[in-house]
Amino acid sequence: MKITMRATAQMLVRNLASDLYGHPGGCLLELIKNGFVAHMPDPECWDPRLPKLEISLARNHPFTEGPALVVLDHGSGMTEPALKRYFGWLGTPLEKLIEHSNGSSKGASQKGIGRLAALALNENCLKEDIGAIDHGYYLFSRTSRSGDIRYIRVMPCDFELEDGIEVDNFVSPTSTEARFLDNIQGSFTAIVIPTPVFDSAGEIYDAIKWLLPRERDKMFSLTVNGKVVEPPVLADDVNVTSLDGRYRARLGIGNEEKDGIWLCDAETGFRVASCMKLGKFLPEPLDYPDLGGDIFAPGLLRYQNTARDTLSKEFTRKGNKEWQKLLMFLVGDVAPKAMALVQRDSLATDVVKTIGELVDMFHHRYGPPEPRERVVGPGGIRTPPVSPPGP
Ligand SMILES: Nc1ncnc2c1ncn2[C@@H]1O[C@H](COP(=O)(O)OP(=O)(O)OP(=O)(O)O)[C@@H](O)[C@H]1O
Ligand SMILES: [Mg+2]
Repeated sequence: MKITMRATAQMLVRNLASDLYGHPGGCLLELIKNGFVAHMPDPECWDPRLPKLEISLARNHPFTEGPALVVLDHGSGMTEPALKRYFGWLGTPLEKLIEHSNGSSKGASQKGIGRLAALALNENCLKEDIGAIDHGYYLFSRTSRSGDIRYIRVMPCDFELEDGIEVDNFVSPTSTEARFLDNIQGSFTAIVIPTPVFDSAGEIYDAIKWLLPRERDKMFSLTVNGKVVEPPVLADDVNVTSLDGRYRARLGIGNEEKDGIWLCDAETGFRVASCMKLGKFLPEPLDYPDLGGDIFAPGLLRYQNTARDTLSKEFTRKGNKEWQKLLMFLVGDVAPKAMALVQRDSLATDVVKTIGELVDMFHHRYGPPEPRERVVGPGGIRTPPVSPPGP
């Protein structure tokens, strides 16, 4: 007797989607990365000039006849191997791991579960009751330039079916289902998520802005409801680059999100590990929440943990030369400058506080200052002297 293990619907929705990522931006980024990788002719080469991704949010979408979030890429479409992986495997099969033992797509496609994040973007999937497994999303895809479109309903409950999910279902580009794609040309994949967790395009941007490639030259074409999206500018109070250019640090005083400093992958520009999380591995003050910014180092993305916020132990082990090199840069070049920034900032804050306290004290003792009279002379506005100048 042989038995094949199947994933349960509950596991797909809970463990591999909603519980895994800390926030909806992280989930959406998984779909963005998949779209990005689908544009790469060679998944080993990362070229941000190629992808063209479009995210749209509609209150009244013609397909769902209600609210919907659509993530559209103009990549390869679901080729046969991609389909087999998408619907046949959870995680990355051994064969693929061996083939890409150095990491594929520079690590953007590595764990084999990112697609399930789409489930966590459908509000109905997040409900605590058992009914959540009856909700999912829809996948439209085509690998050819024109012609019929593959149309698959992705419902977690269907993964428990004995004979699997039917993937050979096609609709014409002019059919009611595919009409919203507006007679799209070329190969593509569109993920349509009903009852999305987002309410507005602004909310989508806020959720993903810090997750986009941090350096502008790594950013690809991405629009949200037709508007081009760019990552926030890099901090520049501390700007250090190693002699060989492989390591770069751009730090400043933290933003209102108080997200601290992040280690980013130098090739893709993606944030990989939060310094606040890595804490004990890093020299002070890189884990201070009052600091913010990005430190770029090569080869990090493939060592990112599944929840996408820290580095795996495999990278931070003592014997790893890449980790040692990064540490040397952090200890020797970045930490001293970051510490000077912290001291300068706390000094500046103290000075402002002290001046404020002095002013308050004077006002308290002598009352508020009298308003000064302003006169207009040939030179414009000037303030008259308190007492006439004289010998
Ligand atoms: N938009 C897409 N276009 C074409 N193929 C896709 C698309 N999205 C996913 N796939 C295929 O489905 C596979 C599974 O995607 P999934 O995001 O689950 O895993 P992954 O990208 O390999 O790894 P990770 O979990 O690190 O994202 C991909 O490897 C790819 O072959
Ligand atoms: Mg992926």
